[in-house]
Amino acid sequence: MRATVGIFDSGVGGLSVAEALHRLAPSLPIHYLADTSFFPYGDRSAAEIQERTVLMVRRLVEEGANVIVIACNTATSAGLERVRAEFDVPIIGMEPPVKPAVERSQSGRVLVLATAGTISGQRLARLTERHSGDADVVTIPMPGLADMVESGEIEGPRIEAMLGAVLHGPVAEGADQVALGCTHYAFLRPVLQRILPPHVELVDAGDPVARRTLHVIAEAGLEVDLGGPEVEALCYATGDVTAFESTVDRLRAAGAALPPLRISRPVA
Ligand code: DGL
Repeated sequence: MRATVGIFDSGVGGLSVAEALHRLAPSLPIHYLADTSFFPYGDRSAAEIQERTVLMVRRLVEEGANVIVIACNTATSAGLERVRAEFDVPIIGMEPPVKPAVERSQSGRVLVLATAGTISGQRLARLTERHSGDADVVTIPMPGLADMVESGEIEGPRIEAMLGAVLHGPVAEGADQVALGCTHYAFLRPVLQRILPPHVELVDAGDPVARRTLHVIAEAGLEVDLGGPEVEALCYATGDVTAFESTVDRLRAAGAALPPLRISRPVA
């Protein structure tokens, strides 16, 4: 049976993961679901996000996905265990890349940027406890940052000021790794590279999750026609499709790497 990957996020953030997967396997069918009517997940309760996670996985499975990627750290934190127990398809989650950031750090000082929901969750606490070793891992909640990305704002003075305000102090004190713990923040790589000194590394989980997805597909015995023609990812949004389309256009115009997309409009 051919693999069809269902990816979801609260909005455009998971498109950074879809892009990484498309780059590795351009012929792999991807269904992308943006739960824009419930965006942002980061400010909601874990119980509420868990219910949305169940709904989103169900919808993707009903649309024909046989492998699911939760391209959202916040939804993974709140809902991964529940959906793995409820659905009979392989489900890959997304966690802030604390482990690789700690391994790469020379100074032993690591910063993790994430939503309030991810930072208050048990999952990140466990992950940090397991992988921090002697390193000092500092989590920084970024309320409002995913909202800016979701409106297509990934460059400019407002974003620079917001990031500079939280990063310049800890970097001056020695932090040399910034782990991106929200898929929306992957689109901020260019601005982060500009405002941070060159020795500070940005660690993103998009590529490792894309590689893991191909591995899981192979383990499940599903096929990918790696030499086949490139396909567009089919996108759905639970909220206003026109707003979603214009965010995607703004991201493209600002230079964000996105996979080729076909945005589905609900039939009237
Ligand atoms: N993209 C989501 C994540 O990775 C969060 C954005 C939101 O707050 O909805 O955590």
